[in-house]
Amino acid sequence: MTRGRFVSFEGIEGSGKTTQITRLADRWRADGVPLLITREPGGTRLGESMRRVLLDAQTMDLTPEAELLLFYASRSQNIEEKIRPALERGDTVICDRFFDASFAYQGYGRGLDLSVIERLTDLVCRDFRPELTVLLDIDPATGLERARRRNRSRAREEGRFESEDLDFYERVRDGYLDLARRDPDRIRVVPALGAVEDVEARVHSVLAAHAHQP
Ligand code: TYD
Repeated sequence: MTRGRFVSFEGIEGSGKTTQITRLADRWRADGVPLLITREPGGTRLGESMRRVLLDAQTMDLTPEAELLLFYASRSQNIEEKIRPALERGDTVICDRFFDASFAYQGYGRGLDLSVIERLTDLVCRDFRPELTVLLDIDPATGLERARRRNRSRAREEGRFESEDLDFYERVRDGYLDLARRDPDRIRVVPALGAVEDVEARVHSVLAAHAHQP
């Protein structure tokens, strides 16, 4: 049985997930909360090597099915090597994306059958799910503009998804919102526009409200 708290963050490119995760982690660490911060794809040696393949703009001709399976291979390793042991120790886990990203990107975005993704999720995650998912919501035009500006300045190599067109991101965003409507107790939508501090305050109140639920 797991004991720690398991929270994931989701949102399209440029929604500010990583910034918000860093701020939350700083606050929880200052409060003395033992933490594991992890990300998908990635989080383990194997996962990080899959991340390079999945995000590298040079990776051409990956089929949607191969893409889906690589994300789940990375997730399986991350659960067994990192997340489950951390939760069993009683640590709090913050995950930068989890299975909702596969439904949003590979399901709604690429058009893969959602029921197939559900079966893969059952296989890989079993009953394992975040107790709370913060969905940072932003319109794709604004999000992509932010993400592309950031990547130009950092010369990141991780451009494969960012070269998708706006229609793809509209489907992903609508997909996330649909997932949130279907699972409103777990997935909380937080508008990601405005100052970083304002978004941080919204995230904080969502987490606080959740912690006080019976
Ligand atoms: P991420 O590292 O969060 O990128 P960013 O910080 O720029 O938002 O995510 C990497 C990319 O992988 C992102 O485009 C979403 C995609 N992705 C999927 O398509 N399916 C998945 O299951 C996951 C975890 C990520």
